[in-house]
Amino acid sequence: MIDTKLPKLITKLPGPKAAEVLKLDAQYISPSYTRDYPMVAKTGRGAVVEDVDGNVFLDFAAGIAVVSTGHCHPDVVSAIQKQAAELIHMSGTDFYYTQMTDFAQKLAAVVPGSEQKKVYYGNSGAEAVEAALKLSRYHTKRDKTIAFYGSFHGRTMGALSLTSSKAVQRKGFGTLLGGVTHIPYPNCYRCPYNLEPKSCAIECATILEREIFKRIVDPEEVSAVFIEPIQGEGGYVPAPKEFMQELQRITRKYGIMLVCDEVQSGMGRTGKWWASEHTGTEPDIITIAKGVASGMPLGVTVARASVMNWTPGAHASTFGGNPVCIAAAMATFQLLEKQYIENARRVGEHIMNRMADWTKRHKIVGDIRGRGLMIGVEIVRDQKTKEKAKDLRDKIVDAAFTKGLLILGAGENSFRFCPPLVVDQEQADFAVNTIDSILTNLEKSV
Ligand SMILES: Cc1ncc(COP(=O)(O)O)c(C=O)c1O
Repeated sequence: MIDTKLPKLITKLPGPKAAEVLKLDAQYISPSYTRDYPMVAKTGRGAVVEDVDGNVFLDFAAGIAVVSTGHCHPDVVSAIQKQAAELIHMSGTDFYYTQMTDFAQKLAAVVPGSEQKKVYYGNSGAEAVEAALKLSRYHTKRDKTIAFYGSFHGRTMGALSLTSSKAVQRKGFGTLLGGVTHIPYPNCYRCPYNLEPKSCAIECATILEREIFKRIVDPEEVSAVFIEPIQGEGGYVPAPKEFMQELQRITRKYGIMLVCDEVQSGMGRTGKWWASEHTGTEPDIITIAKGVASGMPLGVTVARASVMNWTPGAHASTFGGNPVCIAAAMATFQLLEKQYIENARRVGEHIMNRMADWTKRHKIVGDIRGRGLMIGVEIVRDQKTKEKAKDLRDKIVDAAFTKGLLILGAGENSFRFCPPLVVDQEQADFAVNTIDSILTNLEKSV
């Protein structure tokens, strides 16, 4: 049992047992995974994880923003155990069970918008996006789609066609789904139109009507606009409120589905259930996964009831909405609702306050942004030119690991804080102090 809430390193990294696993991994496991450092996990509790050699790490990655209620929360573990002893699988595709409807009611009640909602269950973020893509085409009877540069929506062929995060994710797979137009994401630190947020007239949204709908695709043929309200893999970039509202106005005007991909930004991570709530938007379709079941595989697509009008047989999944995963999701939901969404807001605010002067104190910190416990830090070679410093970002991520702090990169040259939503102020301070001193040391050599 882990007896500390802060890191404790007892071997050099990787330790001997970890080194053995790395050898086997190189021999047997698909080389397509992208591991930054050799963390071989064995057990986790709350916001800490112990590796196979007994080293304890503070986890500010949360299994890529997944273990929302921390590792192995006792309520989640007991819900899984109880459900596993009762019914593991039945398949909602052909049969009924109460878990599906119980959780659908809970989730539908917290998705914005007054219209009744319907819920589709899959197994992952990509499947939630795939369902949203098919549903928007089915519902509108249109086949064109708009997505954004830098977006990540998953790696199945449909979701991948919307993804434009890194070319390596698309390279080698041939022709993807047609009819997808990518436009620049509203990144105010790197405005694609070289404008200032205060006076920009939201070019990144109005470009749809001014240019895209005139030159590339008629709006009457567009089924959906897919947007991450906070771009995740693209670097933790929040879309401004004015932009989201303009996007909503445009999509409503032309009968286009506004799909908010909240796979990474949802389930309370930003201090509200959904990142889109911070912008006052009401998506037609919302995609959910990652934090929804504290680590059990579940993907959910929620739409307005009038939008989810496909017929029996149109879409389904054998495992989607598995009773054990939903049991974990029910326990997760209760914990988030009771205390952890508020904790994400409070601790997130504390971290942002602690880092507020970093762009002044650290010459390689270009931008700090995010909401709640979804925080990105962009690393640059020079604050004026904003030259991206991927090499320095990678050094920070590696150095954090050697100090017992697990973080992940995001985008080309940012790193992210996406800890479990249970993280406390002492753990947050440890993470901030650790990165602060890594930055100070690194800056001596640049
Ligand atoms: C916004 C977003 N959508 C979709 C996905 C794909 O989710 P999964 O890896 O569960 O398929 C991700 C994963 O990082 C994501 O961040």
